[in-house]
Amino acid sequence: MIPPHKVDEILSAARIDEVIGEFVNLKKSGSSLKGLSPWTDEKSPSFMVSPAKGIFKDFSSGKGGNVVSFIMEHEHFTYPEALRWLAKRYSIEIEEEKPSPEMEEARNERESLYVINEFARDWFAEQMWESDEGQNVGLSYFKERGFTETIIKKFQLGYNPDDFQAFTDVALAKGYKDEYLLATALVKEKNDKKYDGYKGRVIFPIHNLSGRVIGFGGRTLKADKNIPKYINSPENAIYNKSASLYGLYYAKQAIAKGDVCYLVEGYTDVISFHQKGVENTVASSGTALTRGQIKLISRYTQNITLVYDGDPAGIKASLRGIDLILEEGMHVKVVLLPDGHDPDSFSKEHDGIAIKEHLEGNARDFIGFKADLLMTEAAGDPIKTNDVIHAMVDSIALIPDTILRSLYITECSRLMDVSETALISELNKVLRKNHRTKFRGDRRREEIPEAPLIENDFKKEEQFVEDTVEHQERDLLRIMVNYYDQAFQMEDPTGEDEEVEQLNILEFLIDEIQGDDISFETESYQKLFSEVAKNFNETKDFQPSTYIHHEDEVIRNLFIDLMSFPYNLDNWERKDIWVSSEEKKLRRAVIESIYAYKSKRIERMIKNNQELMKDQVLLGADPDDFLITQMKLEEVKLQINKTLGRTILH
Ligand code: GTP
Ligand code: MN
Repeated sequence: MIPPHKVDEILSAARIDEVIGEFVNLKKSGSSLKGLSPWTDEKSPSFMVSPAKGIFKDFSSGKGGNVVSFIMEHEHFTYPEALRWLAKRYSIEIEEEKPSPEMEEARNERESLYVINEFARDWFAEQMWESDEGQNVGLSYFKERGFTETIIKKFQLGYNPDDFQAFTDVALAKGYKDEYLLATALVKEKNDKKYDGYKGRVIFPIHNLSGRVIGFGGRTLKADKNIPKYINSPENAIYNKSASLYGLYYAKQAIAKGDVCYLVEGYTDVISFHQKGVENTVASSGTALTRGQIKLISRYTQNITLVYDGDPAGIKASLRGIDLILEEGMHVKVVLLPDGHDPDSFSKEHDGIAIKEHLEGNARDFIGFKADLLMTEAAGDPIKTNDVIHAMVDSIALIPDTILRSLYITECSRLMDVSETALISELNKVLRKNHRTKFRGDRRREEIPEAPLIENDFKKEEQFVEDTVEHQERDLLRIMVNYYDQAFQMEDPTGEDEEVEQLNILEFLIDEIQGDDISFETESYQKLFSEVAKNFNETKDFQPSTYIHHEDEVIRNLFIDLMSFPYNLDNWERKDIWVSSEEKKLRRAVIESIYAYKSKRIERMIKNNQELMKDQVLLGADPDDFLITQMKLEEVKLQINKTLGRTILH
């Protein structure tokens, strides 16, 4: 926990132009700075930073935010990680809340394991590069496999000498505790004798997201079938297998940039792909893909492509992984490599460009892949074919997004030559069943809410574009956020009242909106507005930084978006001219935007009232009630339009 006063200290010390300047080359442009987007390959700069407002906006990727969100986006950090990064950058000491003795001990254990692993990594590398045995056995093995020295160093590969206790001896001499050495399994114990767990093996360190070593894979160099080919670290306080992926530390930037993650099987597959420049590659290394691993990838991209050698066992294993990925709401494709190649052997025969072309050209959507695979197996047998259809629908039912689900139904119907109606009815059965399973236990059957089902022809609620007030609501908020402190005075039409209350724009808008009990139709707009209004009513104060750093992501992002000037880059660049002319006409703009909005809302109320009247009168209701409402609404509309007309004529 970082104490709140420290958070404030960090936020006020951090200068957005300095921080972003460490990652992006920024040039002055008017009152802002601009540079090339760090998230796309754009040629002309559309990435803007406003030091005065403390925000950035990337027009090519649409991302925008404050200094903390930049670090989070760019480094893929969580919020506290980003704050710690900034604290370090500005030499701010964070005295974390005092840990309990248990926490202290857990931290000591974790830290000790890291220290041992990092000592081991360095020692294994030193053995490989410096000792005769290391060079002749370890290093030459990697070189024979085609790994360059650069890639061997990058992945910090090493070698544990083929000696009973070479590592054990140095580690004990360094004074590392038995307990921790055994927890890493780099040292093992039998009949009170300690010995090397990875003896005679080449070593693959496994890193966490910040590059610290959490475990090792060790491959034997012996052909003996009776010993395991690979040994992996056991789980311990720092190594959680189902939440780590081999190579992710080196792949994360490339995954984010390429917006796809290639998933392969083994250590050597990862390294070979990286060596050829296909750096968006990771492996689940021996274990079946887990939900935790998928969640890790989803920090960087929503697209996963499984890359498998074509052997049937591997393919079958991939089906379970596919379902897990679909369930997380991510997109999954599969590439099979030709002629029994695995990624490692395939990359020995092709250069980076050819590999990328193969991956991009042969990635198949899971639906076609699975349909093909299972249909070939069923080979026309009607009973088996029926099973296949069920298996397909089961997968589709896992997809959380309704629209995507119905697209897949259409595709599946085409591929398998089954009517969409039949598939939809089957899908709805599965959805209901899954839904019941989910709610089983904590609710009685009757109380189970309806599962959201797909309708046959997928009707959307009719929407009239010209009817939407979103645009007007946005305009109001934009004025509120950018001109909140400008004095504002509603003209006294009679000219009689000497003491017209002096307001600023924020007060005026809050009065107008809350006074008429209006809530914005767009949910996020309402959320921001009610937060601003609530804070203002309580404190009589409005500080943009409250919202730029707001803990609620919806509020924060919307606010920054409204501040960073809407629609496109042209507007940002022409902002100074645009703003000055808008400021001149500000009074008019405020009145126009609020009254035009109210006018629109009232028109809709009138229309609704008329429709309601039609229906209800048919059912025998008294039309008078509706007519009275109608007259009141018309009166309000007249008032609004008068005000509006006066302003526009001015
Ligand atoms: P090479 O055989 O050197 O090309 O390694 P590889 O990484 O291609 O290995 P392989 O295709 O045989 O296996 C894929 C992955 O499964 C490996 O990277 C390991 O993570 C894991 N694996 C393979 N064999 C074993 C084993 O005997 N024990 C354990 N724990 N994991 C294994
Ligand atoms: Mn291999």
